[in-house]
Amino acid sequence: MGTAKALTFGILTSGGDCPGLNAAIRGVVKATAGMQGGSIAIGIADGYRGLIEGRSRTLGPEDVSDILTRGGTILGSSREKPFELRDDGPRTDADEGMDKPELIKDTYKKLGLDCLVVLGGNGTQTTASLLQDEGLRVIGLPKTIDNDLWGTEVSFGFHSAVGIATEAIDRLHSTASSHNRVMVIELMGHKAGWLSLYSGIAGGGDVILLPEIPYEREAVARSILRRAKAGKRFSIVVVAEGALSAFEAAMDKKDRKKARAAMSWPSIGYRVAAEIAEDTAMETRVTVLGYLQRGGIPSAYDRILATAFGSAAAELMREGESGRMIAMRDGAITSLPLAEVAGKTRKVPKDHEILETARRVGTSFGDE
Ligand code: F6P
Repeated sequence: MGTAKALTFGILTSGGDCPGLNAAIRGVVKATAGMQGGSIAIGIADGYRGLIEGRSRTLGPEDVSDILTRGGTILGSSREKPFELRDDGPRTDADEGMDKPELIKDTYKKLGLDCLVVLGGNGTQTTASLLQDEGLRVIGLPKTIDNDLWGTEVSFGFHSAVGIATEAIDRLHSTASSHNRVMVIELMGHKAGWLSLYSGIAGGGDVILLPEIPYEREAVARSILRRAKAGKRFSIVVVAEGALSAFEAAMDKKDRKKARAAMSWPSIGYRVAAEIAEDTAMETRVTVLGYLQRGGIPSAYDRILATAFGSAAAELMREGESGRMIAMRDGAITSLPLAEVAGKTRKVPKDHEILETARRVGTSFGDE
C-alpha cells in the first residue's frame, strides 16, 4: 500500500463511553486528513450496530474541531456484539435471522473501506480480532476507565476516572470525619480493580476491596476497629463493584452468580457497609459513584494519550498494517496483534508493587 494512494478509513466507538474518545477520534481524523492523496475518514454511528445497519457519515477536520475536550463520543456507542446471538439487551425482532458479521462485511465493502479503526475495551477488541479473521482490515485503540485491556499499560479514560473518583473520596473524607462514620464508596470495575486501587490510594482509602483479592469480613472489621482504637473514629472503604468475599471466591462461577443475584442488597457496596455496621457497631453510609466516573471532560493526560493513540493508528494504516491494537508498553507507543488481546483481561497482579505501597502505609485489602 503506497503512501500516495487515497485511502478510506472507517472509525467507530464501541462499549461504554469514556473521557478521551472524542480526542482519539480527532487524532485519527486529523492525522488521516494530513496524509497524501486525499485520504478520508468515515464515522460509523453507534459502534458495531451502525456498521450492521449501514449508518455512517464522512468526517473531515471541520467535524472534529472543538471536540478535544468534550466527554462521551460524537459517534455514539453501543454494546453490540455481532458474533454473539444475543445483544446484552433482550434480542429484538429486528435481530431475528440477521447474519451480523455478513452485514458488517457488506457495509465495509459498500463504503469502500481500506481499514476500520475501532475504539473500545475488551469486548470491542475481541470483535475486532474476529472481524480481522473474517478478512476485514481492523486496527484497535484501547479505551476503558477500568484499565483492564490486555497488552497495554494504560488505556485512555482511566486517568480521568481516577481523578473523578479521587475527588469523590476526598469529599467523603470531610463528611466522614465530621460525623465519625464509615463511608463506603463503590466504584466501577467488575473484573479488575485498577480504578479502585489507584483512586483508593490517591484518596487515602483505609480499606480497598478488589475483585483480585477476596476479602474476609473479619479482617475488614479488624482494620476499622484498629483505627478507632487509635483515635480515628471514621474510615473510608473503597469497594470495586466486582469485589467478592473469600467465601464467594471459593464457589464455582455459576453458584457465585446465583448467590449474587439472590443478594438482598442492590450492590456489593451496600453489603460491605451492612457487614461493617454489624461487626463494628459503627455508623456506615454508602455512595455508589456510578456513571459520574465515565462522564465529562477528559484529563489533560487522557487528551494527550488519546491524541497520541489516534494519530499512531492513522500512521499504522498509512503503513498498510492491520490486525493490531495500539498500546503503551514500557512507556512507549507501539502495537500488538489483536489476536493476542482478544478474550483476555488485565487484572491487578497479586504481587503488584502498588499493593505493597498501599500496605506499607496501612491500607487494608481485607485479606489479613
Ligand atoms: O465500560 C466499562 C464500564 O464502565 C465498567 O466499569 C462497568 O461495569 C460497565 O462499563 C457498566 O456498563 P454499562 O454502561 O453497560 O452499564
